[in-house]
Amino acid sequence: MSITPAQAPSIDDLRDIYKRRVPRMFYDYCETGSYSASTFIDNTEAFTKYKLRQRVARNISGRNLKTKMLGEEVAMPVALAPVGSTGMQHADGEILACRAAQKFGVPFTLSTMSVCSLEEVAKHVEKPFWFQLYVMNDRGFVKNLVQRAKDAKCSALVLTLDLQILGQRHKDIRNGLSTPPRITLPNLINMMTKPRWCLGMLGTKNRNFGNIMGHVKDVGNLADLSHWANHQFDQTLDWSSVEFIRKEWGGKLLLKGINDVEDAKIAAKLGSDGIIVSNHGGRQLDGAPATIDMLGPIVDAVGGSTDVYFDSGIRSGIDVLKAMALGAKGTFIGRAFVYGLGAAGEAGVTRSLEIIKSELDTTLALCGERDITKVGRHNLLMPPAPPFTIPEPQRKRK
Ligand code: GLV
Repeated sequence: MSITPAQAPSIDDLRDIYKRRVPRMFYDYCETGSYSASTFIDNTEAFTKYKLRQRVARNISGRNLKTKMLGEEVAMPVALAPVGSTGMQHADGEILACRAAQKFGVPFTLSTMSVCSLEEVAKHVEKPFWFQLYVMNDRGFVKNLVQRAKDAKCSALVLTLDLQILGQRHKDIRNGLSTPPRITLPNLINMMTKPRWCLGMLGTKNRNFGNIMGHVKDVGNLADLSHWANHQFDQTLDWSSVEFIRKEWGGKLLLKGINDVEDAKIAAKLGSDGIIVSNHGGRQLDGAPATIDMLGPIVDAVGGSTDVYFDSGIRSGIDVLKAMALGAKGTFIGRAFVYGLGAAGEAGVTRSLEIIKSELDTTLALCGERDITKVGRHNLLMPPAPPFTIPEPQRKRK
């Protein structure tokens, strides 16, 4: 299935095609935030406050978008973020997205809550990929999962810190979201309008959470992600648990889900290889600030001691450039590649990456720059400082 620039000149066009081709329950799962979705909406809207300086009459030939993320050469500073249930957006979704990323020359991160397992993805792709870890109550299972990531030759571990309990997404409850989908009459009627998706799913054996099934005893209601997360994820997780994972893994480690300067300072002291400024795409703490508003202050606080990566809200190469100018070492896209995957499988993910690369290249040029590694705050007109401050500790009441 190919997809042409005329069919999808932008990421929004891919989203429209995706919406038509994938069952509503999975579209809604992707395209929502928690509770009122205010943070989900802010994540994208906040980008518009940051203006790019339009510089002219500068030699912009021979531009470079290549850089390094975690020491790995990348074609542009964009990695595929871990997204749960990607294999429900398209049959074998994780394998297809990983292939597209590797051919394009950017990293792919497999979620713990993926449909295709670590082993299944490793078998079908050529190069190492990154693995994202959720810490569960069953530490034996966690150790085993880390070992499986090592055996699959994953080249980095991304430890997610902002989802030990699930922020409620109302649409998922209304839709009775599950992996594989529960066959109710409304779901069945909706699926009948998505023949491509159904055919794909009938042609694969990957229809469950592949990293979990068969590896955990008494899994209970695994189909329901919120039930699973709220019962199995370790709510005692703290910085000492992070240290435990770091030792257990022993390789390159990124800490994901940092959206506060104090947490960034603690994470930097721990000596990880980097942090990802993220609010889980607005899917967790509703009311948290947009990550683009926190990126600058976090880079200023810890950018000298650890690499700061960025996710949540990127829908274009223009957004990537703004994050880089604020000091990110690289960025992650989640929804922006899922739209492509749902629209047209591997070719759709490639199209997502092409769109972002072309936008990034043109924007770089129009900023009067030639090298993505040289962009910085000098390329931005910053909005007034965000109107939030951390209050002094409250005085004791008399
Ligand atoms: C899981 O990562 C989710 O946000 O649903």
